[in-house]
Amino acid sequence: MMKVVKTIQELRQLLTEEKSQGKTVGFVPTMGALHRGHLSLVQRCKKECGVAVVSIFVNPTQFNDRGDLERYPRTLAADVQLLQAASCDVAFAPSEKEIYPEPDTRIFDFGLLDKVMEGERRPGHFNGVAQVVSRLFDAVKPDCAYFGEKDFQQLAVVSEMVRQLGLPVEIVRCPIVREADGLALSSRNALLTPEQRAAAPIIAKTLFAAVDRVCDVDLAALKKFVEDSINADERLKVEYFEVVCARTLQPVASLDDDCAKQACIAVHAGKIRLIDNVRLT
Ligand code: PAF
Repeated sequence: MMKVVKTIQELRQLLTEEKSQGKTVGFVPTMGALHRGHLSLVQRCKKECGVAVVSIFVNPTQFNDRGDLERYPRTLAADVQLLQAASCDVAFAPSEKEIYPEPDTRIFDFGLLDKVMEGERRPGHFNGVAQVVSRLFDAVKPDCAYFGEKDFQQLAVVSEMVRQLGLPVEIVRCPIVREADGLALSSRNALLTPEQRAAAPIIAKTLFAAVDRVCDVDLAALKKFVEDSINADERLKVEYFEVVCARTLQPVASLDDDCAKQACIAVHAGKIRLIDNVRLT
């Protein structure tokens, strides 16, 4: 039977017992509004670890836009049911006071990693992610933590934070889960109107088409193809499309650059911002 705990003290007590039985602790941090993407992380965590802990906490410090924070879907009762069905062992759903008894004033330095794409357009976002993930790691003390590749830059930033703080946790990268029509699963998809939802698969379709073209065109032509194809639909507007080195996240100068390349995109569908990415070469 899954346990739902609200305080760090309860959580530590529970996990100390589990660890004393020699179990490894796996952790999936979430902001709730759970979907199949989250559940795939939970399933993998459950398969690879003795005890699976999932946190549900909408972290205010990573929202640089108040409206976005207010709009963010909150579906705790449904989330708990989904986690129970996914054989999660512990759901940790703390209050804001529990995570931030006092304001977190730490400023992280991730070098160039957070100066591009999401980090450039959402100032303070990754600092807030690092604040909450480091606090959650401190509460859970996991052996392994599972993150989806949809938030490609978040994975790089969290891995760098773990390296900088010397935390004994393995960060496990998990592939993007998509709808049958290609749309990357996201809690924000629930906020799309039916018209926006109908247009949204154009994003993934265009990224896959870009993968098919990458050997035949140069970087400028690839960017133009992606931006024009998506902007041609009046319900969608590309905020950025970048081809970056998958390790450093810095934009490549040419498609011939000698590194693994990731194509990353952010698109507005009305007020809703969707992100996606694919490995190019
Ligand atoms: O990816 C998310 O849902 C959040 O950024 C995370 C990692 C749970 C931190 O709040």
